Amino acid sequence: MRTITIALTKGRLAKKTLQLFDQIGIRAEGSTDDSTRKLIFENEDLAVRFFMAKGPDVPTYVAYGAADMGIVGRDTILEENRHLYEVLDLGYGKCRMCICGPESARKYLDSGEQIRVATKYPRIAKDYFLNRKHQTVEIVKLNGSIELAPIVGLSEVICDIVETGSTLRENGLQVLEEVCPISARVVVNQVSMKMENERISEIIRQLKEALENENN
Ligand code: PRP
Repeated sequence: MRTITIALTKGRLAKKTLQLFDQIGIRAEGSTDDSTRKLIFENEDLAVRFFMAKGPDVPTYVAYGAADMGIVGRDTILEENRHLYEVLDLGYGKCRMCICGPESARKYLDSGEQIRVATKYPRIAKDYFLNRKHQTVEIVKLNGSIELAPIVGLSEVICDIVETGSTLRENGLQVLEEVCPISARVVVNQVSMKMENERISEIIRQLKEALENENN
């Protein structure tokens, strides 16, 4: 039997996802060991293996077929814009993509003024301002701690993920507009979906069932 390869987003998302797979009887030895530096975990009997990747690389592995399936946030799926099937909303890893800044920056958002938007998500930010707000902005790509940008004067606003809101609060910023809700999704390689349809569909069905049981 061909091995099904599943790419997980390293960190909290992988942890929750491995728990969910565990519930449907798919587990790989060592994968839940917090101290390990191993990247690949295989269950030979089930012909399934998991590997841990950085979030933005998960759609890449899946699009190229190096992984048959992947679990990744919707933010990353939108930003990477790969040809993939998005087949299931796992409902966890919930947060919101938002335009944030100091209250004093609100006036720039409907002024049509050319402002700077700092973000780790240039495609999402560009799409939002250009196609939804019809506002021309300059996008400044950053790699983290985006909240710094409006504080030190790099940009008027940011486009970033808000989960609990505490990073914004502790830095005197707020949500000015909501772009879209985010949660963890299952994506599938388009060829794998045809070649391994039966096994992949069964995994998705079981994941759905486990989620429903969890929520009841
Ligand atoms: C994310 C995001 C915000 C923060 C939001 O950053 O970019 O900074 O979490 O979470 P909160 O609303 O619960 O405070 P992350 O911690 O992933 O690190 P980064 O700044 O390096 O991107």
